[in-house]
Amino acid sequence: MLDRRRFLTLSSLAGLIPPLSFGLAKPAISTNKGNAPTPVPSITEPSANRPFVISTWNQPKANAAAQAALNKGGSALDAVEAGVKVPEADPEDMSVGYGGRPDRDGHVTLDACIMDEKGNAGSVTFLEHIKHPISVARAVMEKSPHVMLSGEGALAFALANGFKKESLLTPKAEKEWREWLKTAKYKPVANIERHDTIGMLAIDSKGNISGACTTSGLAYKMRGRVGDSPIIGAGLFVDNEFGGACATGLGELVMRTCGSFLVVELMRQGRTPQQACEEAALRIVKKQDFTDIQVGFLAVNKQGEYGAFSIQTGFNYTMTLNKVTQVIDAKSYLK
Ligand code: GLY
Repeated sequence: MLDRRRFLTLSSLAGLIPPLSFGLAKPAISTNKGNAPTPVPSITEPSANRPFVISTWNQPKANAAAQAALNKGGSALDAVEAGVKVPEADPEDMSVGYGGRPDRDGHVTLDACIMDEKGNAGSVTFLEHIKHPISVARAVMEKSPHVMLSGEGALAFALANGFKKESLLTPKAEKEWREWLKTAKYKPVANIERHDTIGMLAIDSKGNISGACTTSGLAYKMRGRVGDSPIIGAGLFVDNEFGGACATGLGELVMRTCGSFLVVELMRQGRTPQQACEEAALRIVKKQDFTDIQVGFLAVNKQGEYGAFSIQTGFNYTMTLNKVTQVIDAKSYLK
């Protein structure tokens, strides 16, 4: 158990700024463009601030579902699955699950992964016709000897495990896609506006961290395209000793940098969650023209300290602690 005095000492070593009203450290204001982080000793004591739920984008309903699972005594794993199922089932959320925008051929193809506090992981990629890919990913983790199943094989596994086959293309998404076809000349696009993957991290009452990530991927992508979201270490990574991270934005860039693994590894090396997210994003911008791309990282450490950073403005995230939910704008590299 971490007493208050030790917590404060460790917090100041980690460069934290004063806590929010409900006791969490606020993410550091980012002016960090190359400042060396201060190494800190390994911190493995679990947070006193728990249960705790944090997710990418404006997702209060998802956080509420995760919180409800935790309130019922569920694990962090139960919480993140319950949480991300909310946008998966919501036809108005056109970046995740049912109602997601299709690929350029009109097929809704889904990617998801989940990771628990023991380092177990499950993933599905290029999955069609199943509303809750996150639950299939969990089934892969718990009921198969594998980590990742893809396409037809993932669908067959889902059906064999009782998931229902259904159409995921809503009239609204189909109408938009048909409009797109009129002018797009079938050209796949790496747009930054039309996707907002949900990544969620939770800390349960035992201090264990789990995470989930689920998406329909880039709108109007090439058939067969898989993004970062189902890739352990890219869209999501959890190391229960130190923390977890997830990513949103252009998956190709996140994959090339093993983004979420990088964020967690940086926390392991002593960065605060905020510093780690910033450094991971800056590695991307150092390598290429970033004026028209978006990537955002979200991280939490074992103490419940959190951070977020994106390349462009516009990335926000939702945090729930002690029944208080806040939607917070992430700091970004490009103002
Ligand atoms: N980050 C979601 C994707 O690129 O598919």
